[in-house]
Amino acid sequence: MSTAQRTIGVCNGGGDCPGLNAVIRAVVRTAINEFGWTVVGVKNGFNGLIWPEQSEELTLESIRGILPRGGTILGTTNRGNPFNFGVEENGKIVMQDFSKQCMENMSRMGIDALVVIGGDGTLHIANEFSKLGMNVVGVPKTIDNDLEATEITFGFDTALHVATDAIDRLHTTAESHHRVMLVEVMGREAGWIALHSGIAGGADVILIPEIPFTIETVCESIRRREAGGRDFCVVVVAEGAKLPGKDAHGKAMPDARPGQVANSIGYAIREAMDKEVRVTVLGHVQRGGSPSPFDRILSTRFGAHAVELVARKDYGKMVCLRAGKIESVPIDTAVGACKLVDPECDYVTAARAIGITFGDRVE
Ligand code: F6P
Repeated sequence: MSTAQRTIGVCNGGGDCPGLNAVIRAVVRTAINEFGWTVVGVKNGFNGLIWPEQSEELTLESIRGILPRGGTILGTTNRGNPFNFGVEENGKIVMQDFSKQCMENMSRMGIDALVVIGGDGTLHIANEFSKLGMNVVGVPKTIDNDLEATEITFGFDTALHVATDAIDRLHTTAESHHRVMLVEVMGREAGWIALHSGIAGGADVILIPEIPFTIETVCESIRRREAGGRDFCVVVVAEGAKLPGKDAHGKAMPDARPGQVANSIGYAIREAMDKEVRVTVLGHVQRGGSPSPFDRILSTRFGAHAVELVARKDYGKMVCLRAGKIESVPIDTAVGACKLVDPECDYVTAARAIGITFGDRVE
């Protein structure tokens, strides 16, 4: 198939995520093979529209070999909102609106439509540009899997594999040393990575933001395991898990930032029990490295469909997965709608049924 010669752009913003390169590859291949268009890679999120000289044409040759590569060949930033962009003036950072400049630069670059790959923040910016008349199509990305408009985002499956592998490894050392092992996983305000990896890794306790827990209950489930002859315990903690106001002795537990949540809980367990406790914070390991086959496939389907939407001039839409099929929704309705774990969902009930505790009651 071919339509009139066009030039489209592709950019990604926010945190990187396994599968970004697979989307870029699918966009470039579909645009060139199916439509005979030219594709420009816009660098470092929307910054590439503020400084267009950073951008470069993406060809079949230049994208060769990127399918299994983590990260993004375009570079990215999560400090790149052109509507509110910090610039240094007389030693101070002042916020400026570069949106008009981006619109002008895009037309100067000859780009008539932009495929924007991003999470909620980036898609929000894409939506603002769409309202100004920019032709945009969105592709949802995040390891957190917290976008309501799509059943799954690419990157989640890879993060899940990394987290599950870590839990498997912690299991064996927890058992050898009779320890309580806590592992903190990412996910922002949502407990998807913790819930899925906790089930897949056979965790004993899973703590997620959506289910309030107490330290006493966590300690009680560790004691009950011990009474049953299992003197070790694996606790998966979502980075967004909300610390209870008080520890097991009624002492105040101050709020902790992501990256420090499992340490706070580990400290409180150590204070309450005569157990050796160790904490692992997985961090950005979950976001790096090669995408899983599932993520490569989903990314490819998303990227190809995004170009189809551009071909149809069906702008202001975001591709998504629904009932296993690739569809699209207005970006306007997709942004700001965060998907959280329903505490009554069957993942939680199945986990409870097999004896996993969520720290709210002992199973
Ligand atoms: O949204 C993806 C994510 O990895 C979250 O899970 C995590 O909280 C955050 O990004 C980390 O962001 P940064 O890379 O800025 O530290």
